[in-house]
Amino acid sequence: MKRTSLRRARTSACVGIILTCAINECPVPSAASAAEPATGAAADAKITDHARVMGAARGDCKKCHVSEVAAGMKTVHFLSAEQRLYKFDGNTKKYADALGIKQTELLSTSVCSDCHGTVALEAGQKKVISGVSCESCHGAAGGDDGWLNPHQSYHASMKVPRDQEAAEHKAARHAKCDTAGMIRSTNLYGLAKACYGCHLIGDEKLVAAGHKAASVFDFVSWSTGEVRHNFFMDKEVNADAPSLWTETEKGTVANRRRMKFIVGMFAQVETTLRLLAPATDGAVIKQFRTPLRDAAELLQEVETPETLAAGELVEDFVPSRTGKKPEQGEEYLAAADEIAEHASAFVKSYDGSKFGDLDEIIEETPAYYSQQYKQKYGEEN
Ligand code: HEC
Ligand code: HEC
Ligand code: HEC
Ligand code: HEC
Repeated sequence: MKRTSLRRARTSACVGIILTCAINECPVPSAASAAEPATGAAADAKITDHARVMGAARGDCKKCHVSEVAAGMKTVHFLSAEQRLYKFDGNTKKYADALGIKQTELLSTSVCSDCHGTVALEAGQKKVISGVSCESCHGAAGGDDGWLNPHQSYHASMKVPRDQEAAEHKAARHAKCDTAGMIRSTNLYGLAKACYGCHLIGDEKLVAAGHKAASVFDFVSWSTGEVRHNFFMDKEVNADAPSLWTETEKGTVANRRRMKFIVGMFAQVETTLRLLAPATDGAVIKQFRTPLRDAAELLQEVETPETLAAGELVEDFVPSRTGKKPEQGEEYLAAADEIAEHASAFVKSYDGSKFGDLDEIIEETPAYYSQQYKQKYGEEN
């Protein structure tokens, strides 16, 4: 209810924001379509490098990140495998049956596993080892050249503790982790794309079976409620912005939110374009109209060369109300690549300080907690 009225209010105020389609506003077809599923497209943002996935237990994240792990375990992310993959009933069974997925596959190779859980290799076989976990957003960590090795070499208990690490060494270590695929707080676009990689769903058979095509996702509010775990500098305080980033990059909470807001729109646009590229089912295609159009409108309200160019580019790609795509698949992919370039240029050029005008809009959407979380813990973490 609340989400819908908020969405209307915002859309009518012509500030694009957020807004993906709530399921009840987006009728799904009743029969499964014969079209091939359009999965692979957004998969680049999901961890599909299963051989490198450690998992929070094997990766020993808890040894140094007690509070982050404790916060993670309270989320529906963590519970998702248990609720959607281990129990073969209700909608899980309905969607699985529609896609011809057997119960054992739900816990190993299915399309569901990478979104509702963390998949790693055990004795060479894919296996769901937990719900959505650290590496789902921060990147697969393992392997000799993976990020976990350089990452954990400067901790309080190490020979050279973190606070005595030379600045040049730290910069080199960060660069090494980034190259090895670690998605850190400085990589805001990478984090946003990880979210959208799961929260926008392009598999046409899955959506035809009744699964949501899109969460009513907003990067700022959805990452500051139940999901937030900014405990690094003080294990007792879940800070409003990543405490390490605040320290190292001298960032502020207000700037972080503004950048998240805009970067989230770029990620929403890029991911939607990638999902639309192979899509052929009109009923699915039209569900991406709102996320694409609203994010593009908002980008155009932020007056920078990068956001304006991105917003204008998208105008030619918005599907019609009936689900017709104005361009060919390859054009969608080329546009998505271009959006990614604008986004990279954008994050390099701004720190958020110029975008104070957005604060009013951002504050309208409070930190978001799922129903399930609220019932157990209230609105705090
Ligand atoms: C031996 C201790 C240790 C282990 C084990 C460890 N970390 Fe860390 N982690 C650290 C330290 C120290 C930092 C701060 C690094 C710095 O100052 O750049 C950190 C920072 C981070 C950050 C924030 C980085 C940034 O710049 O935004 C993330 C994300 C993270 N760790 C994830 C993980 C995950 C996921 C695991 C398990 C797979 C893990 N860590 C295991 C010690 C550890
Ligand atoms: C749903 C995605 C997601 C998952 C799962 C996740 N993180 Fe994060 N993590 C983020 C985001 C986004 C940020 C930046 C937060 C912000 O901007 O407020 C972050 C920030 C961090 C930081 C920096 C905090 C600080 O105070 O500077 C650490 C450390 C970290 N994560 C560790 C972990 C560990 C350990 C796990 C697993 C228990 C984990 N994360 C699971 C998305 C995730
Ligand atoms: C690996 C896939 C994956 C990634 C990455 C991911 N999510 Fe999720 N998220 C899910 C799934 C699946 C659910 C639904 C869990 C369930 O109900 O079983 C969910 C649920 C949520 C919810 C609760 C929604 C509700 O009302 O129940 C929030 C909030 C959320 N995610 C925020 C985020 C944010 C913010 C990010 C990025 C920083 C993110 N997610 C990244 C898969 C993911
Ligand atoms: C691309 C990622 C993705 C894939 C693939 C995916 N899901 Fe989901 N699923 C989600 C997200 C995200 C949510 C939460 C949506 C929200 O509430 O915003 C969700 C919600 C659900 C729910 C709870 C809502 C409902 O419709 O009852 C069930 C059950 C579910 N998924 C089962 C499955 C099954 C079974 C499969 C495989 C056949 C699957 N999902 C594949 C991302 C995914």
